[in-house]
Amino acid sequence: MASVAAQTVGVVAALTVGYLFLSRKGVPKPPGPRGLPVVGNLFDMPTGKDWEVYARMSETYGPVMSLTVGPTTIIVLSTIEKVKDFFEKRGANFCSRPSVPMMDIMEWSRSFGLLRAGPDLTKTRKMFYQEFGTTALAETFFPQELDQAKTFIELVAETPENLVDHCFQHSGALILRILYGYKALKQNDPVIAKANNVIKIFSDASSPGSFYVNALPFLNKLPDWFPTAFKRKAKEWTPLYLDLVDDPLGTTYRSLADGTAEDSFCAKWLRREMTTEELNLMRYGAGGTLGGGADTTAITLYCFYLLMAMHPEIHERVQAEVDSVCGRDRLPNFTDKAHLPYLQAVIKEVVRTHPAVPLAIPHTSLEDDIIDGYFIPKGSVVFGNLWQIAHDPVAYPNPFKFDPDRFLGDSPQRDPYDYVFGIGRRYCPGRLLAHASIFITFAMSLSVFNIGLAKDENGEPIVPSIDSQPGIVSMLAKYPLNITPRFSPEQLEVLLAA
Ligand code: HEM
Repeated sequence: MASVAAQTVGVVAALTVGYLFLSRKGVPKPPGPRGLPVVGNLFDMPTGKDWEVYARMSETYGPVMSLTVGPTTIIVLSTIEKVKDFFEKRGANFCSRPSVPMMDIMEWSRSFGLLRAGPDLTKTRKMFYQEFGTTALAETFFPQELDQAKTFIELVAETPENLVDHCFQHSGALILRILYGYKALKQNDPVIAKANNVIKIFSDASSPGSFYVNALPFLNKLPDWFPTAFKRKAKEWTPLYLDLVDDPLGTTYRSLADGTAEDSFCAKWLRREMTTEELNLMRYGAGGTLGGGADTTAITLYCFYLLMAMHPEIHERVQAEVDSVCGRDRLPNFTDKAHLPYLQAVIKEVVRTHPAVPLAIPHTSLEDDIIDGYFIPKGSVVFGNLWQIAHDPVAYPNPFKFDPDRFLGDSPQRDPYDYVFGIGRRYCPGRLLAHASIFITFAMSLSVFNIGLAKDENGEPIVPSIDSQPGIVSMLAKYPLNITPRFSPEQLEVLLAA
């Protein structure tokens, strides 16, 4: 995904018409760095790990700060209380998404994560809630989660050096299965390849640096004969999204027709009477979810492997817990979860260490508002700094220490599940599915592998770090690891077949 700052600038510049109010009726905007005339804080905007830059700025300007770029106000919230004040208490005003012109031109803005406030958003969220919104509903997908986790283990056992690819293959395959009942090939699946291509175009097309129209939306009014790169590219890319969406959906239709369909989001909906409008919401909703669900879970899974290699004493302890509960003659399953408190604490510490969507997806306000005595103009772009909340030294003493024990005992520290999936009306609709997937892949990985440090050509250990990369969904820097199976190939085959 493009850097959050880059996307912000696009969003910001998209709102070109308007006058920059420094205050409304004498009410000041939240504090922030002093900007330059016309461009405002353009040159203060972070270009790397935005969440860390904003966290440092908040030490000076406080938990609600503002920046301006051109006519647009950017609000950054850095405590859980403030995120709740905006996204929960004033949820009706802060539940929309900012416009990204190139996405609008390609009609990709209809995808779930970019939907603006309105009936389509309400209906789409309801459709997803109806299938994934409760623990009982998420449990109906446990068989698919188990099956795909086994395929992941098989792949890692075969080629551990390709761990990162396997994490992405796994999360892509799982989401396709849950959404469409589509069973991806074990490797080089054409739909996963299409999805990766669309995710990359999505990232490129929303970056203002790639297309001037993101910064100057009036360019879209130029006549079609006028040569513009963005119109040419938009024409080429527009169909790719629906192609991605409709390709696996074809599988759902076919399997429904021949009676072989397994339960999936689309199969469940298609079995009901649907209006054309609902059918389209289902198509675009599922397509958007492909992007939202795949990278996030893959990165969290990779993060777990890195952290296990970096912390052998924690790896040993959590592996011993898994062994003691599940034994060595079967793989873990979902019924083991309640008996694995230390693993559950490890999971919380992994998602706290690296929230995969560190600034959430930007929200925007529908109306002018006044909060805490500050004026928040209509159309402000609002970020909740989830990464900063996860590293708050008051909630988490010694926040950069990987310490699952912080979630055990009589007074556990704040549960990161309260915020890493977002807060308020746009919280992640896939959180329960993601949680199940994280649990089962972590548990199986511990049961089957020892995860340690790789060595360089001089025999020295290569020590990874949790080095988050820029982007709305933040990848981690890649390191080689030493992953060794604890079973012979024959034993593993028997375990996976059970
Ligand atoms: C570790 C895994 C995951 C993390 C950390 C995560 C986190 C998030 C966050 C922070 C948001 C934005 C919330 C906001 O804007 O306030 C979000 C939105 C979203 N997530 Fe997830 N997510 C994960 C997995 C998934 C999965 C597995 C799915 C699908 C099954 C999914 C589907 C979505 C969708 C569709 C949205 C957009 C919702 C909207 O705009 O209303 N996510 N997620």
